[in-house]
Amino acid sequence: DKGGWSSFMLKEITEEPDAVGDTLRERIHEGDVVVPELEELGDDFLRDIDRITIVAAGTASYAGQVSTYAIESWARVPVDVQLAHEFRYRDPIITPTTLVVSISQSGETMDTLMAVKHARELGARTISICNTQGATIPRESDAAIYTHAGPEVAVASTKAFVAQITALYLLGLHLARVKDTLPAGERRAMVAELQAVPAKIGFALGVHDRITQLAHWMADTRSVLFLGRHVGYPIALEGALKLKELAYIHAEGFAAGELKHGPIALIEPGVPVFVIVPSPRHSEEMHRKVISNIQEIRARGARVIAVAEQADAAVLPFADEVIPLPLAGKFFEPLIAVVPLQIFAMELAAAKGLDVDQPRNLAKSVTVE
Ligand code: M6R
Repeated sequence: DKGGWSSFMLKEITEEPDAVGDTLRERIHEGDVVVPELEELGDDFLRDIDRITIVAAGTASYAGQVSTYAIESWARVPVDVQLAHEFRYRDPIITPTTLVVSISQSGETMDTLMAVKHARELGARTISICNTQGATIPRESDAAIYTHAGPEVAVASTKAFVAQITALYLLGLHLARVKDTLPAGERRAMVAELQAVPAKIGFALGVHDRITQLAHWMADTRSVLFLGRHVGYPIALEGALKLKELAYIHAEGFAAGELKHGPIALIEPGVPVFVIVPSPRHSEEMHRKVISNIQEIRARGARVIAVAEQADAAVLPFADEVIPLPLAGKFFEPLIAVVPLQIFAMELAAAKGLDVDQPRNLAKSVTVE
């Protein structure tokens, strides 16, 4: 039941603050992270983990990519993300101290299930991050951290994505506690950041009308590019995927630093480019680099839509449009910045008269390999 909303997708985007809040519930005690589901694996194993491999497909794989920055920083463990359908064919390196984490909203994606089975055959311990109670993938795993986003009906994944990142951050902070790699004060600061995310997503939902206008202006656009650095990079990939899947528009996401290595040749007058701008309060250097990327593409005629912290005055002279977001900690920006990109793809599809809940050629859960 759409509950009065025009589409399931709109309803589910609106539910994102709760998806994050409900995923945190029961996993934070006295300001620190304790994930009961991880305790089942035993602290000795968790302490010894020296490599994490994430397997997932599509949007779930981008949630995995976002999380690698924070988990590596907090728990000092190398994390790599492999597309589930590639994993099996690359002779993966699994040792008794490897943790394989699968991410799947449905818990039924055949590619991801087969990757998990393969990992187990090779002797890996496996955790499933899943949004569907009792689905096949969590049943085939050693442990499951369920995301509590509630049922996701629209084919395009939205609230599950933010819930997946939340669960992965809980995993990272739990590991950091067990491994003693992040001082308690810093862990608590990260927990406070996580708890502040729902309200900040609420702020991002408030810019909906402005994005709708933008989408209407761009209804005839044939190609859109997305740029991001650091945690903004997988968000650029996700913004592009949403647009392809919903509006059937050619879209590509790039790491901003990669521009000069090729993609800048695509920039021609009028091409819209979304740029995820990191707050200068986290890294002035990174911010300066992204601003100079914006100048480079603008000089070549790109139409720049900056997704930036509201107080970031440095972007104003160089952007054609600014989508303002509240300040969030550096690892938490993606949870907020993805929201306008989801809304943009949905509104552009709607402006083209397309079915946003059921795009052509796609199924909610891909149960074939
Ligand atoms: O159910 P899963 O999370 O395993 O699904 C994975 C992908 O098929 C899924 O995220 C897909 O990319 C979405 N349609 C993207 O919006």
